[in-house]
Amino acid sequence: MTQSVDPAVFKAFEHDGWQAVYAGYHDAFGDLTTQAVGPLLDAVGAGPGVRLLDVATGPGYVARAAAHRGAGVVGVDFSAAMVAFARRLHPGLEFAEGDAEALALPDRSFDAVVMNFGLLHLARPEQALAEACRVLRPGGRLAFTVWSKPEEAVGFRIVLRAVEAHGDLSVPLPPGPPFFRFSDPEECRRTLLAAGFVDPRVAPIPQVWRLPSPDALWEAIEGSTVRTRALLRAQRPEALAAIRAAVRAAVGAYQRGRAIELPMPAVLASAAKPTPHWPDSERSSPRGGSRTLPGKAGTGKGGDA
Ligand SMILES: C[S@@+](CC[C@H](N)C(=O)[O-])C[C@H]1O[C@@H](n2cnc3c(N)ncnc32)[C@H](O)[C@@H]1O
Repeated sequence: MTQSVDPAVFKAFEHDGWQAVYAGYHDAFGDLTTQAVGPLLDAVGAGPGVRLLDVATGPGYVARAAAHRGAGVVGVDFSAAMVAFARRLHPGLEFAEGDAEALALPDRSFDAVVMNFGLLHLARPEQALAEACRVLRPGGRLAFTVWSKPEEAVGFRIVLRAVEAHGDLSVPLPPGPPFFRFSDPEECRRTLLAAGFVDPRVAPIPQVWRLPSPDALWEAIEGSTVRTRALLRAQRPEALAAIRAAVRAAVGAYQRGRAIELPMPAVLASAAKPTPHWPDSERSSPRGGSRTLPGKAGTGKGGDA
């Protein structure tokens, strides 16, 4: 059954979560989410002379890489703890507290906007895309990444199957938008066009999560995510022990030498803000141009990072 999303409640839940897990996220996910940074920056043409906004910057990985390419960078995140952490990691770069859904930045002030694994955490992703479009100059590009479906992103599949088998996926949590909504390339195209972008492009990014031990997946998810951490913490103690054992056993199948290697692919989507000369006929495609969004609310339970 789908539940309606209260954006304020879901945003507060996410905010509290990120305030708590910022350092754990860096330790557990930093080597994974940085694998998408090169393709993400290529998709917006980041380089010298480009003014780039990194939305939901977290520890600032994308901002740092864009600055290394010679771009002028601002990183924004709604978690004060994340912003302070990013400033500590990258002194000299500009980071600010801010909400992806209400950017305190002028219209047409950036050549490129990127969001690495941020969109799937937002209560109102369409509003964030509208804000990205507003702050972009005409002709500028937006790019975002999200996780692939759990069938492909094995770390999520293992944890979700273990909860399904030994616990309860229906424990009460603040409902959020479906976590894997943008894992569907067609949904990315449709939503980007509906937000006013043109020339949408979607591509897979192969990524591998290298973990030091069979317990590392559990520790990463339990210690450094928001939605799935809450899902696990709401399980009964005896169920939790069984879930943990099932996760450990399933991870063992991915042992490669001394390490664990979990496939964790991502989806990269990008699009451009149209210039005034962009033909109206190309502002939406026959398959992707629907302005009616499937705004189904999810239970908020699913993979998370
Ligand atoms: C999965 S982390 C991604 C961090 C980073 N971009 C990376 O490449 O690993 C998600 C980030 O989104 C931020 N976030 C979630 N909702 C947000 C919002 N409404 N506005 C700004 N940041 C938000 C969180 O604080 C967190 O730092």
